[in-house]
Amino acid sequence: MKVKRLQFDKYGDASQMYIGDYELPGLKPDEVQVKIKAVAINPLDWKQRNGDTKIMMDKHFPKGIGNDFSGTIEAIGTNVVGIKVGDEVFGITEFKRPGAFAQSVITKGNLIVKKPVNISYEEGACLPIPYTTAWAALYLKGNIQQGSKVLINGCSGAVGQAAVQLALAKEAIVVGTCGGSSIEEVKAAGVKTVYDYGKDDVLEVSQEKYDVIFDTSGKINVGKAIKRLNRNGKFIDINPTFSRILKGFFTGKYKMVFATNGLKFLPQIAQYAGEGKIFQKVGNVNAFADVIDAITELESGKRNKGRTVLSFEKN
Ligand SMILES: NC(=O)c1ccc[n+]([C@@H]2O[C@H](COP(=O)([O-])OP(=O)(O)OC[C@H]3O[C@@H](n4cnc5c(N)ncnc54)[C@H](OP(=O)(O)O)[C@@H]3O)[C@@H](O)[C@H]2O)c1
Repeated sequence: MKVKRLQFDKYGDASQMYIGDYELPGLKPDEVQVKIKAVAINPLDWKQRNGDTKIMMDKHFPKGIGNDFSGTIEAIGTNVVGIKVGDEVFGITEFKRPGAFAQSVITKGNLIVKKPVNISYEEGACLPIPYTTAWAALYLKGNIQQGSKVLINGCSGAVGQAAVQLALAKEAIVVGTCGGSSIEEVKAAGVKTVYDYGKDDVLEVSQEKYDVIFDTSGKINVGKAIKRLNRNGKFIDINPTFSRILKGFFTGKYKMVFATNGLKFLPQIAQYAGEGKIFQKVGNVNAFADVIDAITELESGKRNKGRTVLSFEKN
């Protein structure tokens, strides 16, 4: 089956993206084919396109773009159970084979879950990367409990908001940092102590110690942050670089986390979303035809209120 999808022929900047025809391969036994309704933009989309993650991608070109999606099941591999054609789902593509900005996409059957009926396709598409990452960071690696003291550096972004909600769901004590224009929103989400990273260095203005420091932005000073952990505290990094790893690794407190560490929790994430415990605020909803402009805008650093989502229902 031929679909229109966003793709690129070689790694590079935003000018490499185009909407082209793509012949979907035959379905393997453990795969499903999903007719796309909505796709959320994540920074990973441009990191995969510009080659930052090329070591983890398959070798074939053209490559698709887009990871987090929602839609309806179109076809089911022979080994996939518990789902039928027409079911409403959200999920994620395989890391090595993105391509959700498309009329239809193929992914593994264990990378989709049924969409709760009380959330929209747009809301469902916003869930996978932020919540699998935050779940793995705070619940799996951070092992936070009621009363744990958690610093979330960059608590207003997609992963940061997910982390705030998951930390508060455990009744942890949350301290956050964000830009000045996000402070009111973050406070409304329940973070009582918020620092504006543009004005204050959170590690200087307070001498607080933490059980977990979760740096979503990759901007905190790793060495300084690790000194501010309690005895069994953990520093959790989702933007590891060689020098950050070097500063943290030998302390035993530095943990790297990837969204893939949390994929097995997609069913619990769907349950939390259905119960209203977690949600991402949807901002701009654009038509598929506008996908290149929408990605380019966010990639160039523009911050919108709420997540940017591409909808296939919109013309
Ligand atoms: N390892 C993984 O598997 C994984 C998974 C998901 C994301 N990531 C990476 O994690 C990063 C965040 O992703 P996202 O989707 O949450 O992005 P996002 O929505 O753009 O959020 C970025 C966050 O960083 C904050 N920020 C910007 N500059 C800062 C600074 N100097 N100090 C502290 N906070 C600062 C922003 O605050 P304001 O908006 O208030 O200015 C915002 O809260 C991206 O680099 C992404 O690629 C990695």
